[in-house]
Amino acid sequence: MADVDYLDRIPNNVNLKESRRLLRALEEWQPRFLEWWQEMGPEGFQANQVYLRTAVSVDPQGWAVFDWVKMPEYRWGIFLAEPEADRRIGFGDHRGQPAWPEVPGEHRGTLRRLIVTQGDTEPASVEQQRQLGRTCPSLYDLRNIFQVNVEEGRHLWAMVYLLQAYFGRDGREEAEALLQRRSGDRDKPRILGAFNEKTPDWLSYFMFCFFTDRDGKYQLASLQESGFDPLSRTCRFMLTEEAHHMFVGETGVGRIVQRACELMREHRADDVGRHGGIDLPMLQRYINFHYSVSLDLFGSEISTNAANYYTTGVKGRYEEGKKDDDHRLQESTYPVTALEGDGVVTREMPALVALNERLRDDYIADCQRGVDRWNAIIKRHGIDVELRLPHKGFHRAIGAFGEARVSPDGRVVTEAEWTARRDEWLPTEKDATHLAGLMIPMIEPGKFANWIAPPSRGINGQPLDFEYVKLSRRNEER
Ligand SMILES: [Fe+2]
Ligand SMILES: [Fe+2]
Repeated sequence: MADVDYLDRIPNNVNLKESRRLLRALEEWQPRFLEWWQEMGPEGFQANQVYLRTAVSVDPQGWAVFDWVKMPEYRWGIFLAEPEADRRIGFGDHRGQPAWPEVPGEHRGTLRRLIVTQGDTEPASVEQQRQLGRTCPSLYDLRNIFQVNVEEGRHLWAMVYLLQAYFGRDGREEAEALLQRRSGDRDKPRILGAFNEKTPDWLSYFMFCFFTDRDGKYQLASLQESGFDPLSRTCRFMLTEEAHHMFVGETGVGRIVQRACELMREHRADDVGRHGGIDLPMLQRYINFHYSVSLDLFGSEISTNAANYYTTGVKGRYEEGKKDDDHRLQESTYPVTALEGDGVVTREMPALVALNERLRDDYIADCQRGVDRWNAIIKRHGIDVELRLPHKGFHRAIGAFGEARVSPDGRVVTEAEWTARRDEWLPTEKDATHLAGLMIPMIEPGKFANWIAPPSRGINGQPLDFEYVKLSRRNEER
């Protein structure tokens, strides 16, 4: 009976009941996950009822139920998208061969590393955001951040499932280590740079969701092409959750843009900071920062690792199936932007080693579409300002531009010019102080902080003044 009860708490479609070894491994891991959640999850709201959606199946129409849940009681589950009958590997040397139901011995190390790297970002973002509940701009936003947090927790479960089900003892050790590292910790940091940055305020949070979480979407989309079928199916389902995270980021920034425009019109001034808003130049600085650190996540422009992942069928391209070429890329080239002397040039390089750059370009195009929608909001207010993505080489730490100083408009600049203009291009101490002053919690249902416009609609058809999080006296006394 204990098993049944336990399975009730881990919704899954992987037939956990049938595999005793795996069940036992997850049983051992679960309490440690919950300890981690209590210690590193959203601070101050663990006892509150939150209006959350929970995955209960993988059916695109009916996978989510909405209900009141205390976060530590969220039903973190294991879901793989339905198998595709006779799925074949779509690229590389094994193109056309059946997908692998198990990990091929020769790809074990590579797959483990890819899964661990992806898995590490999931708890990292929860850790980065754990303080933000205290300064929420509305109950609607509070609920949304908690939704994102529990789903990142579920993504950790998804990766841990793969590690424990397919990688034996190594996998169990990695699953443990995923709970040991901490974002920003000097001794045990998270694996990737952007996931050790601070997310101190809600502007940074929305920017993070838009730019950094979107890297996750692109990594998942290319892992969804993997020849390793369980990984493919896991990522396919994770992407359905990721769509909401993208939504939170884009609409969050969009609502700040809208509020900035309203304040500009109302006060006939560009500097809306004085009127309790976030002005457009400051938004631009935050775009510059979050975009550039996120570009680094795609790795070096030229990478033999990336080529090997592709050739061996481990990791494909974004929308591999929709691309109209030979899916082997032995003969093709791809334009890569690089530094040459004092200039930025574009060169045709062998397509296989340029796969990181190609994924980064797909990502950039996606970011640009979001920025265009923000600009449409500005335009609707009759304001003549455009937000821009800075040049690819701006403020980069990894790859061809890692050593150079490049301006947002793509000029290689001297150290002196960089120092002189840094505060024009990147967030400043003053920005952070201004934001800190704005971050006053707004917890009355239907009310929104002055610096952000309300969304156009509520969650799951609920009104804007719905009590998305049930707060108690204890929350308010703080
Ligand atoms: Fe995630
Ligand atoms: Fe996400």
